[in-house]
Amino acid sequence: MRAIRLAVAGLGTVGSETVRLLRSRRESLARRLGARLELAAVCDRRAAAAARRLGLPASVRRLTDPGRLPSLPGIDAVVELLGGLEAPRRLVLASLRRGLGVVTANKRLLAHGWDELREAAARGQARLHFEASVAGGIPILKALELGLAGDRVEAIYGILNGTTNFILTRMSEGMPAAAALRRAQELGLAEKDPALDLSGRDAADKVSVLASLVSGSWLRPDQVRVQGLEGVSLEDTAFARSALGRRVKLLGVARFTGAELRVEAFVSPALVPLEHPLAAVSDEFNAVLVRAASAGDLMFYGKGAGAGPAASAVLGDVLALGRELLTGTAPAAPRPGPALRLADSDCAFYLRLAALDRPGVLSSVTAALGRLGISIATINQPAGWDPRGVPIIITTHPTSPGTFGRALRSILALPAVSRRHTVMRLLP
Ligand SMILES: NC(=O)c1ccc[n+]([C@@H]2O[C@H](COP(=O)([O-])OP(=O)(O)OC[C@H]3O[C@@H](n4cnc5c(N)ncnc54)[C@H](OP(=O)(O)O)[C@@H]3O)[C@@H](O)[C@H]2O)c1
Repeated sequence: MRAIRLAVAGLGTVGSETVRLLRSRRESLARRLGARLELAAVCDRRAAAAARRLGLPASVRRLTDPGRLPSLPGIDAVVELLGGLEAPRRLVLASLRRGLGVVTANKRLLAHGWDELREAAARGQARLHFEASVAGGIPILKALELGLAGDRVEAIYGILNGTTNFILTRMSEGMPAAAALRRAQELGLAEKDPALDLSGRDAADKVSVLASLVSGSWLRPDQVRVQGLEGVSLEDTAFARSALGRRVKLLGVARFTGAELRVEAFVSPALVPLEHPLAAVSDEFNAVLVRAASAGDLMFYGKGAGAGPAASAVLGDVLALGRELLTGTAPAAPRPGPALRLADSDCAFYLRLAALDRPGVLSSVTAALGRLGISIATINQPAGWDPRGVPIIITTHPTSPGTFGRALRSILALPAVSRRHTVMRLLP
């Protein structure tokens, strides 16, 4: 039986589980593939200790420098599970340029280097698989790339960050945001430094990967409008539920308007109707709703992180790569596509302000919206929320984000209105 020889770089959470499964499922994987998956080398700063811990035989080479992997003789594919940016970037580019297949779980690498990776893969006639980079164990990328290849994807709405979804779930039960974050950290669901999660930047990287895959052209992460959880309070989550019949979710959205090369992409806290399937996604779970022209709405749900889910996605990629190598059918990655054009579409907004309790303040706020033709759907002034001002909560009818932004700037310039405010989008 032919062997596919693998090198695994990074023996941390995902790498260790990947190696463990590669070995424990050796026989069933070989039957499925019609070839043996042979672990030829591992690389980690503490490779020897990790190899001992994993019980690897002496035939598996142990390296500490990922830069040496691409030139190891007899390697067919590299599995990059290092994390970070620079070392993975050098490893993946060098491997692809040499014609080695690559599997990676690294969303940052893809989101920030999409075009150079495609270029390197095209140059080396090599394939790059990256299922675990978005939504962990959910096979969303294969669904988009293979299952929906004949369809036209119109939009993707995702809960793409488990940490923030866990925090929002606890907040909806009345736990303050800071305590919810501490709980997530205790459970190992949040990083020590959760800034990328809370700011929405982690979800933006995943939106970038999803949109680039669907469109074939790179949507850079800086083209995704990003708003994180920072402004969302317990009062917002309670008000959303009791007065608006909605739940707050941090959504990553990519909408392809008209031709697929026009895309609207954002990450934002959003008010989702309680009966919407995304509203039921709680705790650290991820979900992606794909709207396709012919298939309609498809919902993908599961664990977005963790050793098992990520290793499952990595192994799926390894098998896909193995099949391509065996049949010689690996289509070279397409060359970088033409530049995407950004679009905006109308959306209803939630705005919470804190204002001084003075006559005429409310009418100046509504006038600022009215001047720009923004129509108000609801307006509320709940009592006793905020000692620093009277809360004004407005929801609008759909309006363009640009127009809403201009109205917001003029409202925040009013002397009686505090600059502290919360904006969320309303999902229809
Ligand atoms: N964890 C998850 O649930 C999950 C889910 C989906 C995708 N991912 C992605 O999978 C990748 C790996 O994540 P992970 O959680 O497994 O990370 P991890 O636990 O930190 O493991 C990474 C391992 O690689 C080693 N390493 C990093 N840079 C190295 C270098 N330059 N040279 C040698 N060794 C190096 C690290 O050693 P040190 O500890 O000494 O740095 C560590 O042992 C990341 O891209 C992550 O975004 C993770």
